[in-house]
This record gives sequence, structure tokens and C-alpha cells, in this order.
Amino acid sequence: MSYYDDFAPHEGIRAPRALLHTSAPRLSLDGDWRFRLSPVADVPADFVDPEFDDSAWGTLAVPAHWPRHGHGTPWYTNVVYPFPVDPPHPPEENPTGDYRIGFDLPAEFTGRHVVLRFEGVESCARVWLNGTELGFFTGSRLPAEFDVTPARGRNVLAVRVHQWSAASYLEDQDQWWLPGIFRSVTLEVRGDLDDVFVHASYSDGQGTLLVDASARAAVSVPELGITAFTGDAVTVPVEPWSAERPRLYDAVVATDSESVRLRVGFRTVSIADGVLLVNGEPVALRGVNRHEFHPDHGRAVPRETMIEDVLLMKRHNVNAVRTSHYPPHPAFLDLCDEYGLWVIDECDLETHGFTFSGWEKNPSDVAEWRGSYVDRMRRTVERDKNHPSIILWSLGNESHTGANLAAMAEWTRERDPSRPIHYEGDAACEYVDVYSRMYAPHAEVDRIGQEPGIPFLQCEYAHAMGNGPGGLAEYVALFDRHPRIAGGFVWEWIDHGLRHPVHEYAYGGDYGEPIHDGNFVVDGLLFPDRTPSPGLLDLKKAYEPVRLSFVDDRLVVDELRPVPPLRFEWTAGDRSGVLDSAELPPVDGETWLTVRAVLAEDQPWAPAGHEVAWAQRRPSEAPFVVPAGIDRPQQTDHGFSFGPGEFDRFGRLRSFGGLAIGPPHLALWRAPTDNDRGEGARLHDTWQALGLHRLTHRLDEVSAAGTLVVRERTAAPAWQRGARVTCEWASAGDGLALTVHVEPDGEWPEPIAKLAVTLPLPAELDQVTWFGRGPGEAYPDTGLATWVGRFESTVDGMQTPYVRPQENGRRADVRWATLTDTLGRGLRVDGQFGLTVRRWTDADLAAATHRNELVPGDGLWLTIDVGHQGIGTGSCGPGALPEYTLTLRKTSFTVVLTPLS
Ligand code: GAL
Repeated sequence: MSYYDDFAPHEGIRAPRALLHTSAPRLSLDGDWRFRLSPVADVPADFVDPEFDDSAWGTLAVPAHWPRHGHGTPWYTNVVYPFPVDPPHPPEENPTGDYRIGFDLPAEFTGRHVVLRFEGVESCARVWLNGTELGFFTGSRLPAEFDVTPARGRNVLAVRVHQWSAASYLEDQDQWWLPGIFRSVTLEVRGDLDDVFVHASYSDGQGTLLVDASARAAVSVPELGITAFTGDAVTVPVEPWSAERPRLYDAVVATDSESVRLRVGFRTVSIADGVLLVNGEPVALRGVNRHEFHPDHGRAVPRETMIEDVLLMKRHNVNAVRTSHYPPHPAFLDLCDEYGLWVIDECDLETHGFTFSGWEKNPSDVAEWRGSYVDRMRRTVERDKNHPSIILWSLGNESHTGANLAAMAEWTRERDPSRPIHYEGDAACEYVDVYSRMYAPHAEVDRIGQEPGIPFLQCEYAHAMGNGPGGLAEYVALFDRHPRIAGGFVWEWIDHGLRHPVHEYAYGGDYGEPIHDGNFVVDGLLFPDRTPSPGLLDLKKAYEPVRLSFVDDRLVVDELRPVPPLRFEWTAGDRSGVLDSAELPPVDGETWLTVRAVLAEDQPWAPAGHEVAWAQRRPSEAPFVVPAGIDRPQQTDHGFSFGPGEFDRFGRLRSFGGLAIGPPHLALWRAPTDNDRGEGARLHDTWQALGLHRLTHRLDEVSAAGTLVVRERTAAPAWQRGARVTCEWASAGDGLALTVHVEPDGEWPEPIAKLAVTLPLPAELDQVTWFGRGPGEAYPDTGLATWVGRFESTVDGMQTPYVRPQENGRRADVRWATLTDTLGRGLRVDGQFGLTVRRWTDADLAAATHRNELVPGDGLWLTIDVGHQGIGTGSCGPGALPEYTLTLRKTSFTVVLTPLS
């Protein structure tokens, strides 16, 4: 048995301690190291000799993952282990990276107590200094330190990193497997303040500060006039810390030889009557799950990217983060303290793959693994214990249940009784303080909210994979309603699409992995490049800290959570666009009033003017009226001529206003979304079975009297059921009104994807203006972020670039739209409809596996719908709520098409 297939988590490392900002000298070893990769673990450790000639090796940056730098490839699995499950043994094929770096120890380090610190290495590292072995460690997202006091002058550090080790059984998180030294390596002189533990509580205007440290030290907080010593409790009036008002006080803990700077936030977490409280007030966690991810660097996330994440969260009304499923880079927690985010800090633990063996041999309940479990928790808590933003410790994720988890909880409670313990896998709540679930349907969340018990939260809900998630507003309404519900965390923050030379963004399988979980890794609120997806914009609306609503003629402002000073702005608009404020009160027709609450002053996370909340009111609504027309259909040599329309002898549209515009056909399918494909909905399977993707249209009758009437039967091969579709064209102003009557022929109990007609247009009509909801996409249970107004875009601009192509880009509640070329020639559509325009068909969209496979065709496809199936969150969780189900029923709708020149 080797160290890499042993239950022991490490050998030779120092006791875990807080990561401190200290005056002690530090030397970063980040930069280019010498590197070589071997395919197996058991290769001669020749390179540890300081005299070893590594000139033939390449270099690799630290911090980085080697598969992102041309050595081997990333590998994605969700639940399954990518190797045979025989704990604690890793597979024989075990990519092993040897690293070497020479460094000069600065004179000021010499003769002092010096430690070598690794912030994160995946998954197992063995370390030598000047040919002498220091030990080894596992725990990929956890720090490890070695004592290197004997170092002098010139030194050679050699590190061997194995991709797989016994610890891999404990690190089965749903993410890319990405080996390497991916966080910083430093040398630090140790003074007497090796560890400091700040206890800063708050009650009724008073903060109590007590600092424990490894040596007696002076404690000062100048702003509060505190000068004390470690071990003394001091109570003074303070402003408390909260995510909304992250008040921090600078403190210094000092001995003669070392001083440590701390940012102290006073706050007390407690539970009373089943409610999670911070500073005596119920806390409303409006959260997201954040994995560390960067499309180029994987989990070696640059600091600017961490700041970007925090700013994006704050600007989208997110106030809480679960660090799924491991402690993040420590700098991220500093940012959470600073900018204000409630944090559930989660231990680096997941053994999900044991589910396939009915949890047999699951490490969580096997005694040999107890040490590793408690060690992981200890290293988490000790490193992060001084962060006010952390209000809950989480034992890990999806590791079922067992005595080892209970032992982690017991150790944690003893060490830090100030924070409650979270772990979703403890369904019976035997060793946790909050009840946690993932993906519980709305009805169940509602029921739990009404039952008495310990505080409840959804550590994961609303799976943000592809188009969606649907149903956000309804979830958040439940969180708002029930005091027992502390809130929830959307799964997840960002798509883990790795930048790829062929696919643009890669997901599972794109590196030829023999076993993988496809695009399940691409399920975030941000696209891989951190562009917000429509889901994040919806979440911002759902998480608004103030709710604006109109009651009669009054605007009601309901402050759900503390907010910075706000200013209110309004605009009014009608069907033609934005009206000048002077034009209030509302004019005739449809006039909309939009009120926006924006920051009155600059905040650290957004400038004055940043929108926090909004509401829109529609004081008057104009019904859609079809204008009268005088044209009649005329028989021609080729078929019919009717106003601006030319039809063939089958009554099928051939041109309109001189442009090649084709006939409308019934469409009941959509390119499946990830949620349609998911187990929670299984809609894609149903639609395939019904043949909705290959409907055929049979002409039954054409008649031309005052109107042109075309009767068709639409049905799929192999099926008796179908739909009778009548398209009736009538003169309307300068254009034609198209009335579509749809009548099911047979029983259609299952949901359909949409109820629409699609017609081909010339490619050059790609300038789009519409009055309706926008600017982004909206489906029946999404699009919270959209408001009614006049919007302009292009066909390309209307596509939402989901990493795996799928239904997208629909604009809802459209009253009129124009599609023109750049000279204004084209088509206007009036009515009340959903609008989708693409350069490809639904079939093309469904067939593409990556964005860049979507190739524009010769024309455009315009889809006018009167209904879509809800989106839901069935890719992981429940499908759309029943009220968003679309079935085929007898329907008629009318739109007016008018040529534009
Ligand atoms: C959860 C899990 C997450 C992720 C998610 C689906 O069960 O905790 O890590 O896999 O499902 O994307």
C-alpha cells in the first residue's frame, strides 16, 4: 500500500490554523515551475535529487491545472467515479505530475521558523525539500503546511502530484476532474501568532470581542477604542455586520515579534422557534451555489474573477453563497466579508458515486475513513473561522449519512459553537441544526414551511441548466411566506464550459472521456464567459430586496430586506415607444408606467443609478382590432393573388409585398431544452414518441370567396391523431389578416411544446423591432426580468447563446413586430403573440451540440405562437408547475401581416 492508496489523509503536515494577514515575511513560490507528466503513479522519484537535471522538462505555471496547459485532458463526471470503485485504491492509470522549483531563501527567513504552505493541490502531493521528504497530503481544496525551518540559501523543492488517490473517493463532486497545484504556494516565517480565533458577537447594539491566540497578545480596535489582550472579552457599542451592511472594524493582534491584521464583523447566529436568526432578525438567504470556475483556468480562478463574481452577485440581488462543494480560495471569503454576502462554507467532501452500490462501503460510515473526514472538517473550520460572512458550516455534499459525518459535526460543534451546522444528507436531522433539501417541488416546500421544526433551507433548487430555470418567482414567494424557510440557493452560479479550440466551450465527452456526463456540467446562471444568462436576470427580479407594486393609483414600496438609500424613477410608454414625462397622465390606447428603484448613492458594489427593483403598471389596455380591408382573392394562372399576397393553386403563400415569404404551417414541437430532456419532465421523450418533430401537412381544401381558406390536416407518421388546421386569409388595411383555427383530431392528453405557426422569410429581413415584453426571452414560467416596451434587435441578437443549443429567444406578449432589411423593406405583424425568429430550423437547433455548429441557412424562420409549454427545472428537479402546462385544444388566433416598403 502506498501513501496514495492509504486511508491516512496526510503525513508530516502541521496542525491546521487560520489563514492570517500577518506582518511575518512571506515569499510566494508562484510562477513557472519545471514539470513532467507520467501516465502512472509508481515511477522512480529521481527528480527529488537537488542535482537532478530537469533541463529536458517543460515548464508549468503554479497555480494551474496541468490539463489546461497541454498535459493530458480534463475529465467530467457528475456522480460516477471515473475509475473502478474499490476503496481506497486509485486506478493504475494515474497521471502523475512531477514539479520542481529552485528558490533562494531570503536572508530574513534564515534561522527562523519557516513553513511551506500549499493552498490547494488536486488530489495528492508528496513533497521533498533538497532531497529530504517532508511528507504528503490529500484534501484538494484544503491547505497543508510543512515545517521547513532547516532551509538555507539555495533550495530545491520537488513535488509529486497524483491525479488519483484514496482521497479521490471523497472528492466526487459534480465537476471537471482537474489535477495540479491549482492554488498558491508560499513560504512564510512563523512568529508566535500561529493561530488566532476571533469571536465577535452582537446583541442589542453591543458587540463583544474575544480573541484567542496561540500566544498572549495585545488586541486593539482603534475605531472602537478597544485595547485589550487575548482572552479578554470586551463589550462596546458597535454596528453589526450583515450581508446588507457589511460593517467591518480593523483590528490588530500583536506580540513583540508579530502582528496580525483582522477585519472584524460583529454578528450572532442563532435559532429561535424554528427560525434562523442573525443579530436577532430572521435571515433571508437569497442565494446561489458557487463552484470555482474560469473557462480558461478551471478552478485556478484569478482574483479579478472572484471580484467579478461578487460584484455580479451583489448587482443581481443575490445575498448568499453556498461554497459548493469545498472551501473556496480564501480570498473569496475576504471579499464576502467586505462586500457583504452570507456564506455557507462547505467542506471538501462528496462520495456520491457510492449510490450505485446502494451506498455499500460508503466512506461516510466506514471507520477507516473517520480520520480523513474529521481532518477535512478541521482544516476547513480552522482556515476559515474568522470570517463574519460565514454563518453556517456545511459538512459536505451528497455523501449519504454515517458516523463519520456525525463525528465531523461533533468536532465542529465543540470547536465553534457559534455557527449552526448544515448537511443536506442528514435527512433525519440527527447531527445538523438546519433541515436542508435539494430540488424539492414547490408543494413540498410549502408543506415543510408550514410544519413546525428546525429552520429549513433549500441548499439547491432551480437547476439553471440551459433555458430556465422556470418557477423561480413561485419558489421565492414561498421563502417569503414561511418564517421557517431561511431561503435557498440556486444551482448553480456558472456554466463550467471550458474554452475549446473546436467546440468554443467544451463539456463532458469533448475530450474523449470514456465515461462522462455530457453537458450536465453546463448548468449555470452565467455563461462560461460570465455573461449573465436570462436566468440570472430573472433571479435578480425574484430576489429584489424591495417589492414595488401598484395598489389602485398608489405605488407601494415594501422593504423585504435592508437596502441602501434608493431613488425612484419612472417612465411611461405607449405602443410606439417611450413617451416624454410631460405626456402623463396616460394617453389613449395602451400606456405603460414603469417605476424603477435605483441606488441613490454609490455603493462599493455598484454606482448610483444601479437598478435594484422595478415594477410596471398598465393603466389601460387596447384590445387588438383587425382593420377593415377591401381586397378580395383573385384567381391567377398560378393560383391566387390577394392584396399584397401571392398564393399557389394550393392556397400556399409564395410571396408577400414582393418578398419571398412562405406559407404558415402548424408547429407543435421545439428544440428540446435541457429541462425538457430531464428526468423531472421527460417531455422530450414524449414529443419524440408522438413525432411532434416530424409533423406532415396534407392539403384538404382550398376555397376563395371573400377570403382565401386553406384547410389542412397536420399529423405525424404512424399516428392516427392529428390536428385540423384552417388558415383563413382576409383583407385587412394594406395587408392580410391570417386567422388560424386549430382543432385536435383525436385525443391529445400529453403536453405539447408549443402551439404556433412557422413561416419562412428572406434572410435579409433581420432587423427586428417589437412592442411587447423584452428585451430578453420569456416563456410562461420565465422572463420575470422582461417588461413591456418597444425593443429593437437583430435576428442574431435575439438568440440566447446556450452552450448546448436548444429552444431560446422567444419574446412574449408581442402586440406588433416588424422584420425588415436595413432599408426598411419587409413585414409587420400585429396581434397578440409570442415571437421567435431564427436563421435555422428547430431541427437544426436540436441537432447542434455546440453553439458554433449553428450555421445560418438561406432564409429566416418566423414563429408566431399562442402558447409554449412551461420551462420548469426538470433537468434536475420538478418540471413546470401544472398551470404552465400546454395541451392541444381547439384554438383560434389572428395576426395581421402588412408589407413594409
Ligand atoms: C446536486 C448536486 C450538485 C449538482 C446538481 C446537479 O445533486 O449536489 O453538485 O450535481 O445536483 O447539477
